[in-house]
Amino acid sequence: MDARPIGVFDSGLGGLTALRELARLMPEEDLVYFGDTSRVPYGSRSKETLVKYARQDAAFLRTFDPKAIVIACGTVSTTALDVLQAESGIPIFGVVESAAQAAAQLTKNGRVGLIGTHASIRSGAYERALERLRPGVRVTARACPLLVPLVENGRSQPGDIVAETVAAEYLAPVKAAGVDALILGCTHYPLMKAVIGAYMGPGVALVDVGEQCARWVRRQLELDGLRNGRPGAGRHRYYVSDSTEDFSALASVFLGEDVRGGVEQIDITAY
Ligand code: DGL
Repeated sequence: MDARPIGVFDSGLGGLTALRELARLMPEEDLVYFGDTSRVPYGSRSKETLVKYARQDAAFLRTFDPKAIVIACGTVSTTALDVLQAESGIPIFGVVESAAQAAAQLTKNGRVGLIGTHASIRSGAYERALERLRPGVRVTARACPLLVPLVENGRSQPGDIVAETVAAEYLAPVKAAGVDALILGCTHYPLMKAVIGAYMGPGVALVDVGEQCARWVRRQLELDGLRNGRPGAGRHRYYVSDSTEDFSALASVFLGEDVRGGVEQIDITAY
């Protein structure tokens, strides 16, 4: 039993898709969220920059003495997971392995679609994991750099003509490849699930990497005896590196809980 909090970070709002699932699966756990909103998007940065950012994000969360850290970001998970794991004495979870497992199980025809940021697609991490889990699987991957800014600006709902047009353009070759499972390889994308699902059609299973990761984290914490046995609702704290206003409004809508008073701005460059 371990009452220490779980740290969760992303470049911005996207990681809340993982946090929401962590809170649903483990309501008693304390969660500390950091969104690096002053430096979002991460997806177009170089590996060196991403490793630097990831180290700073983890260092900030370490100040809360967490029992584990969840990298609720496809970009950092595909680029800096091994660095963070090597440097921390606590479990560090990324989103790739659990998402690949889900996709490998869900696909019937062996054709899997993958969308993510430039950095995630460039890394080849999802493809490697899929090939290991289901040899011969055919992956059609597409970088979708415009989706993150759309989500961060609240332009992700069905009926939003910009969101629908951009998503359709990115997804056309993925759909044409006949995939029956699509990995939403960036934690921002589930916020566009309705738009993406409507375009891909009901025959395509969507894999939400944050959701899969949360389930994986719960299993691992249970196996390691790290769950919080204390009854009652855990405390959720939110930190961002830019103004708290926009984040609070969008995050409240998305999480279905008021994060207003609970968001603080910090200087991430100090870590
Ligand atoms: N949500 C993150 C990811 O999963 C970051 C996207 C970005 O900042 O470009 O990749």
